[in-house]
Amino acid sequence: MSTDAPTHLLTKRDGGVWVEDVNLNALATAVGTPTYVYSKAYITAAVAHLNNAFASVPTNIHYAVKANSNLSILQLFAELGCGFDIVSSGELSRVLAAGGDPAKVLFSGVGKTTEEIDHAIKVGIECFNVESAAELERISSRAELLGRVAPISIRVNPNVDAQTHPYISTGLKQNKFGVLPQQALALYLQAAKNQHLEIKGIDCHIGSQINQIEPLLEALTHLLVLVDDLENNNITIEHIDLGGGMGISYQNEIPLDVSEYGQAVAQIMGNRQQTLKLEPGRSLVANAGILLSRVEYLKTSEEGSSEDAPNFAIVDAAMNDLIRPALYNAWHDILPVDTTEPGTPGIWDIVGPICESGDFIAKGRQLTLAPGQLIAIASAGAYGMVLASNYNSRDRACEILVDQDSFSIIRRRETITDQLRLEQVSAS
Ligand code: LLP
Repeated sequence: MSTDAPTHLLTKRDGGVWVEDVNLNALATAVGTPTYVYSKAYITAAVAHLNNAFASVPTNIHYAVKANSNLSILQLFAELGCGFDIVSSGELSRVLAAGGDPAKVLFSGVGKTTEEIDHAIKVGIECFNVESAAELERISSRAELLGRVAPISIRVNPNVDAQTHPYISTGLKQNKFGVLPQQALALYLQAAKNQHLEIKGIDCHIGSQINQIEPLLEALTHLLVLVDDLENNNITIEHIDLGGGMGISYQNEIPLDVSEYGQAVAQIMGNRQQTLKLEPGRSLVANAGILLSRVEYLKTSEEGSSEDAPNFAIVDAAMNDLIRPALYNAWHDILPVDTTEPGTPGIWDIVGPICESGDFIAKGRQLTLAPGQLIAIASAGAYGMVLASNYNSRDRACEILVDQDSFSIIRRRETITDQLRLEQVSAS
């Protein structure tokens, strides 16, 4: 199998647009819109590419479940040999339901509750990524109570600027994540004396959508200083977890070159014995998925479109389906799917039906659009469906996994019955 980076998810041929060998028009007719569509081949290629990039150092991939937690996607990652990075008991349950191995699960996150810690200890996860002194204490006391030894790694905050959007930057000392190196050393010394804890590794995750290698390498260098300090204190670290964060191209960014990253990491590691761990989410799934949506109405500006008076294409996907544009002002490419319709050329804001001006998918795009036309909202495989809500009582989209010329519905479209199931009219 090729280990090149996967490139194009969508292909244009025979007058249509395709994901693998599934025609998007036919798919939309069969399942409706809005619909998330993911490609099995793309994800498989992304995992092969990453494995190959890190082939010279023993490396485990722990897919970050938060990026896309559909059971079939998790099952695919398990089949591809990946472990998982989780941040909640809910994500742990998903991994188990998908057939994932608890012994390959890392548990990150600053707010693990007692119930979540117990769940993870009982199923036998591989390691807790501990984010504070108080959490270490809680894990130790729960392990003692359950008569178990809890595997731990300290998440170090290396105070490195990942040069990404401030909401998704996590490795600066003003961020809530991890502990500073000096405190980490103290926590390791404490854990080494604690019979309910077993020290496994060291961890960091400095942010997401990082397209420069330097901050990631700087973080690794900081971790290695600590690893050496620990060695000097007779504390052996089995694994070094570099977190996720590898960036992708949404618009025209030059994405992080995974092979270059792998080579640079191998060089810095030299002949150290530790296994590397990576927690990638976005880089494996974002460009493996689209959100398929249909234009409901075109609302053209009487003044001729401009930033002050835009043309609006009102589509059936909204901020409740894909919140990234509203939340981070994120760019997602818009690709018209049925190119045969005679449309109206212009500069369009692509907006949803939700009653907020923040409900936009894209702004100021030069496109030719027609009512009823299908569009593909690109790079939607990560942090799309997982962030969807029922705002405006909209049913959440369905999800499709394409495998060559066939597709499966991996999550059916929600119905209003699903939405009302947990509520009732007050008895009084
Ligand atoms: N490990 C930890 C501890 C994390 O917090 C994250 C992401 C990852 C791994 C995976 O990072 P990735 O490889 O996907 O960059 N909703 C935002 C992204 C939030 C990322 C949060 N943490 C977005 O839509 O851009």
